[in-house]
Amino acid sequence: MLCGRTNVNKFLIEEQRRNPALFGDFSMLISDVVRSCKAIAQGVSRGSLAGVLGDEGRENVQGEAQKKLDVLANQAFIHHCEWGGHLAAMASEEMEDIYPIPSEHPRGKYLLVFDPLDGSSNIDVNLSVGSIFSVLRCPENCNADAPIAADFLQPGSRQVAAGYALYGPSTMLVLTVGSGVYGFTLDRDIGEFLLTHPHLVISPETREFAINASNERFWEPPVQRYVSECLAGKTGIRGKDFNMRWVASMVAEVHRILMRGGVFLYPRDSKDISRPGRLRLMYEANPMAMIVGQACGLASTGRERILDVLPTSLHQRVPVILGSRDEVERIERYHREHETGEDQPYKSPLFSTRTLFRND
Ligand code: AHG
Ligand code: MN
Ligand code: MN
Repeated sequence: MLCGRTNVNKFLIEEQRRNPALFGDFSMLISDVVRSCKAIAQGVSRGSLAGVLGDEGRENVQGEAQKKLDVLANQAFIHHCEWGGHLAAMASEEMEDIYPIPSEHPRGKYLLVFDPLDGSSNIDVNLSVGSIFSVLRCPENCNADAPIAADFLQPGSRQVAAGYALYGPSTMLVLTVGSGVYGFTLDRDIGEFLLTHPHLVISPETREFAINASNERFWEPPVQRYVSECLAGKTGIRGKDFNMRWVASMVAEVHRILMRGGVFLYPRDSKDISRPGRLRLMYEANPMAMIVGQACGLASTGRERILDVLPTSLHQRVPVILGSRDEVERIERYHREHETGEDQPYKSPLFSTRTLFRND
């Protein structure tokens, strides 16, 4: 029986009644996004049976090999969200330029940005993947009949809604419309996402961190310092042992952090100096930063809050450090201390690298 549980549509309509800033057919727009996620969940769960695994044989705008499911998931978002009349345009990891709503459909005043399949390197080995989305308003000077990429370049603090779907052992939808974070589980018997995790909150403290440690030699000193202190555990200055996880699906990592705390780092590194980070600001970092912030956690580049970063291009990358508030604040402090030189052990000016006797 459906009685007793709130489905995502009822939740959205109630949220929209509470918050008049969510104008127009906002709840209908999110319902279209939810439909996209249900379609993707179906494809992901059938895997080889549906012939959807493997490479597409092309590269996306990031120069990354596209999986078949990257392309299918992108098509699912377009198919389910383009006709409803709520959007002026969409943008996605898998499309170089924005996708203005075709003229045969009515256009609305929202913009949708998404990562159709996150963690897609995991898809062929049957591990958790997800979809991430962010909703923005068309800016005041935007011409809804001719939207341009610049209309999307708003800081994450202006997002109206953000969420992700996690295609794991169960399929979950996690959503914020700016008043807390709510988790819904897909009941496949009735085809509905039902509210199962109201008011998700990230504990401020943790003993768990997530980072791709194979990049260690490329990290900046503040991140090396943080991780080495975690690894030192009880014997180091943290005085407690830490656990480490790395799924290589940001959706799965953020979900774990929402469930039991933790900190996730994909920091700036020097592996490819043309890239300030691995993750993309508009459709990975920003929506996750809104979710984490709404759940009482923090999201930072190490030097500034992610939601304050002013985007300069649709596919720009950014360092990401997010999760339990105390840890993110500590890592931000380590970045500040590095910039001022406070993290250097004290050395006598006579004998240090800055010694008076050095002549280089
Ligand atoms: P995508 O599959 O959308 O390109 O994103 C993958 C991202 C993210 O989900 C994950 O945290 C990270 O890339 C994994 O990177 P590594 O393979 O370098 O660990
Ligand atoms: Mn991704
Ligand atoms: Mn992706």
